[in-house]
Amino acid sequence: MIVHRPLLLLLPLPLIFSPCATVLRCIKIAIVHDIAEAIVGDITPSDGVPKAEKSRLEQAALNEMCEILGGGIRAEEIKELWEEYENNSSLEANLVKDFDKVEMILQALEYETEHGKVLDEFYLSTAGKIQTEIGKSWAAEIHARRNSRLKNKLN
Ligand SMILES: *[C@@H]1O[C@H](CO)[C@@H](O)[C@H](O)[C@H]1NC(C)=O
Ligand SMILES: *[C@@H]1O[C@H](CO)[C@@H](O)[C@H](O)[C@H]1NC(C)=O
Repeated sequence: MIVHRPLLLLLPLPLIFSPCATVLRCIKIAIVHDIAEAIVGDITPSDGVPKAEKSRLEQAALNEMCEILGGGIRAEEIKELWEEYENNSSLEANLVKDFDKVEMILQALEYETEHGKVLDEFYLSTAGKIQTEIGKSWAAEIHARRNSRLKNKLN
C-alpha cells in the first residue's frame, strides 16, 4: 500500500509543537528520503530486493543527483540527511521513520473502516518497531480506535 500523501500530513500535532529546528530537520530528511526512493523507484520488501541493495541504489542515485547539481555544501547536507535516516542516527530520523509507519496503519484503519475488512498484517508488521515517544502515542491512539471499532462490530 504505497500512497504518497502530501508531506504535511506526515506532521502530526505533537511535532508542530516541537522546536522549529526539529521540525525543519524532519521535513528535510523526509524530502531527501522521498527523492531517493522516487529516483530508484519504490522498491518494497515484496520485490525481493535486499535492504542493503536498496540502500546502495538510493545512495548511488543521490550521489549522482548531487553531482549533477554541482556538489558543494548543499550536496553534503543532502548526503548527511540521507545517511542520518539510514543510520537511525538522530531523533529526527527516527521520527520520520515512525511517521511512515503511523501513516501506514492509519491508512489501514481508514481502509478497514471503509471496506469493513480486517487487515492485521499492517498492525503486526509495525508492532514494536516504533521508536519515539511521539510515534508510540500516535500508534496507541490508532490502535485504540481500531480496537473499539472491532469491539463494536462484534457486538
Ligand atoms: C552512517 O553510518 C556510516 C557507516 O557506519 C558512517 O560512515 C556515516 O558517517 C554515518 N553517517 C551519519 C550521518 O550518521
Ligand atoms: C535502523 O532501524 C531499523 C528499524 O527501524 C533497522 O531495521 C535498521 O537495521 C537500523 N539501522 C541501523 C544502521 O541501525
